[in-house]
Amino acid sequence: MARTRRPLIAGNWKMNGLKADALALAKDVAAGVSQAGWSDREVLVCPPATLVAAVADATKGSGLLAGGQNCHAKASGAHTGDVSAEMLKDAGASHVIVGHSERRADCGETDAIVRAKAEAAWRAGLLPIVCIGETLAEREAGKTLAVLESQLKGSVPAGSTAAKLVVAYEPVWAIGTGKTPTTPEVAAAHAHIRKVLGGLMAEAAGVRLLYGGSVKGSNAAELLAAGDVDGALVGGASLNAAEFLAIAKAA
Ligand code: 13P
Repeated sequence: MARTRRPLIAGNWKMNGLKADALALAKDVAAGVSQAGWSDREVLVCPPATLVAAVADATKGSGLLAGGQNCHAKASGAHTGDVSAEMLKDAGASHVIVGHSERRADCGETDAIVRAKAEAAWRAGLLPIVCIGETLAEREAGKTLAVLESQLKGSVPAGSTAAKLVVAYEPVWAIGTGKTPTTPEVAAAHAHIRKVLGGLMAEAAGVRLLYGGSVKGSNAAELLAAGDVDGALVGGASLNAAEFLAIAKAA
């Protein structure tokens, strides 16, 4: 059964932000969200782990949500330098990004690891944003849809429901490059993602599918209007409050 998919505009700050500037950015975004009073969309920022608590505290009550960029699969233990989903929740996070292509590439995260992290998010009461996307070589070899299918089958946990899962399609070659797929290409990828999800869970029609990769204020309306696109995962442009708010407005 289809349910209304409330657009989600998520900012991934990546490894950017020191306290003073990051809090100023968060407050500016929160002020814009509060002023807009959107009830028809969700706006989220995912600061570096060191700033999740401060951003969540500084923006409380504004309507702006805070999330993590990654979590460990375990709740606690001997994992030096890692952050658990429970810790993010405790810091005030509502969401966590898992399986971003930068972590898949930099840290060797496999589909199985990503799936375990998504399950950890559930355990802690966070909503996981599971990232998938093809590399340029895979796209040029005509393997885009097959890669997305295989990543989904490996990364999406059993027991997923529309309320417990967000999927972000981020073509690796579109991240930070200023290049984007055409809207028909985005629509085709998202339609395929929804079809594959349909084989994995009952509520695939209600799962929000975000597009990510060089989204900015000037192309957001077009990308967000593509079929089956329910929001955006924004990197570079989320570091500028006006630009990020323009994307949220376009949703
Ligand atoms: P850019 O918006 O900088 O291309 O990054 C996209 C991204 O990786 C968001 O997770």
